[in-house]
Amino acid sequence: MYQVYLRSFADGNGDGIGDLSGLLARLPYIAALGVDAIWLNPWYPSPMADGGYDVADYRDIHPMFGTLAQARELVHRAHAMGIRVLIDIVPNHCSLEHPWFREALRGGPGGAARERFLFRPGRGVNGAEPPNDWQSRFGGAAWTRITEPDGTPGEWYLHLFDSSQPDWNWHHPKVQEEFEDILRFWFDLGVDGFRIDVADKLVKHPDLPDLAQWSHDDHPFSDRDEVHDIYRRWRQIADSYPGARTFVGEIWTPSVERLARYLRGDELHSAFDFSLLASPWDEAKMRQTIEEALAAHEAVGAAPTWVLSNHDVVRAVTRYGIGDGSMLRLSAASTRKGRVDLALGTRRARAIALLALALPGSAYVYQGEELGLSEVLDLPEDRREDPIFFRTGGDQLGRDGCRVPLPWSGEEEPFGFSEVDVSPWLPQPKEWGRLTVEAQERDPASMLNLYRRALHCRRDQRAEWGEEVRWLATPPGVLGFLRGDAFASLTNFSSEPVELPAHPQVLLLSEERAGSDLPPDATAWVTVT
Ligand code: GLC
Repeated sequence: MYQVYLRSFADGNGDGIGDLSGLLARLPYIAALGVDAIWLNPWYPSPMADGGYDVADYRDIHPMFGTLAQARELVHRAHAMGIRVLIDIVPNHCSLEHPWFREALRGGPGGAARERFLFRPGRGVNGAEPPNDWQSRFGGAAWTRITEPDGTPGEWYLHLFDSSQPDWNWHHPKVQEEFEDILRFWFDLGVDGFRIDVADKLVKHPDLPDLAQWSHDDHPFSDRDEVHDIYRRWRQIADSYPGARTFVGEIWTPSVERLARYLRGDELHSAFDFSLLASPWDEAKMRQTIEEALAAHEAVGAAPTWVLSNHDVVRAVTRYGIGDGSMLRLSAASTRKGRVDLALGTRRARAIALLALALPGSAYVYQGEELGLSEVLDLPEDRREDPIFFRTGGDQLGRDGCRVPLPWSGEEEPFGFSEVDVSPWLPQPKEWGRLTVEAQERDPASMLNLYRRALHCRRDQRAEWGEEVRWLATPPGVLGFLRGDAFASLTNFSSEPVELPAHPQVLLLSEERAGSDLPPDATAWVTVT
């Protein structure tokens, strides 16, 4: 599955912003990668306070991305190429510009329109303190006080994310009905499924208690049991459509067992498993992570969904080039102190890509990972957009650095992303000239060619690989496993070369090697007899 961050994929109309016409023109590139489907980040009308995760209208396309007619055309053309299309649904919150939120503000306290959101009076003298102690995921309080229509300081509304993203009240039947209708709208248009944003946080404890009072298994807003009822209803809607329609949940749970509960037969088809992404570069920890994920998924009869990167975390080549590779967000301080070893990060990113693609289940590849793009750390402050940067006063760099527009061709910005002389919405590093698609197509050893070969090999051999992973007895520092009877993947996590046992054929190697050794920080795909 290939994740398309539309705004940064390809610009078709020369305004410096990626769009549907750019994507339509580049669909053959995606088909040639050898993926089965694309997932597009939100494309809805939005003030773009959080990259479009602040939705103003769930049934339309942002004019800067294109039109509904182009969305239809995308689905049609992708299907003709054998590519399925998943879009992003954002059910936890909307935007300040959503008509229902505006109506809620106008309606005044106690009005029916406010009940679709989570408005509460403040605490303390004159209600000047937030209603509870919850913190926004992006920093600061999870509540913002409004001014009432009569000009007085008024109620507070809950936003687990930015203040531009008011949370819906999922106890309200109208909210439930509305989202079911939105699903139908897009299924009717032909999309194959949805990635569900913040899927585990929709339902809040009706009393909105302080987190300080929280006792173990009744968290007031994360992974509450009631959320499963929503997905059972959604599943029925998906199943009522012809063809295979699918959901993938964005769920960050502390344990993979909790994650697997979303994958019971009548709920979601899949959920991102972020455990590999967060695992340090260490063969024992990686193995444990994979074993636990496989066992938890097997218990509910679901396939795991591996993720190595996305639009929210530090790009892989930077991540593996800093510390132990498990740092998903960067503080300004960590990048000042720690030097990033991009050569090491690139080797490890290549190795882990092969490891992940050798596992059973599905895998998501975030655009640009197949080019080995690094996190852009030196974006000028006035070009940054991520609310995380602003809400933490710049302590956290935020996620703009992994969202820089793709380099396609040529030697200078915009590297074929847009028309010549157009500045992309985020500036591209000069060094990306050697990472363009055009440059990498010419180089047999490039990251792009590694991904293409791996994805095609995986697709061709999937049937023979079966669903099982059998671990191999390997030297210390090496993680190896068999898929089916004739295929094995071996990763060298150590800093020394190890001898590769004799194999009839090496199918793919993430690094050049001297002699028969598997170099450090490398993966080999081999056939066995
Ligand atoms: C998810 C999205 C992220 C967004 C957040 C709030 O984590 O992936 O980009 O900021 O939800 O919608």
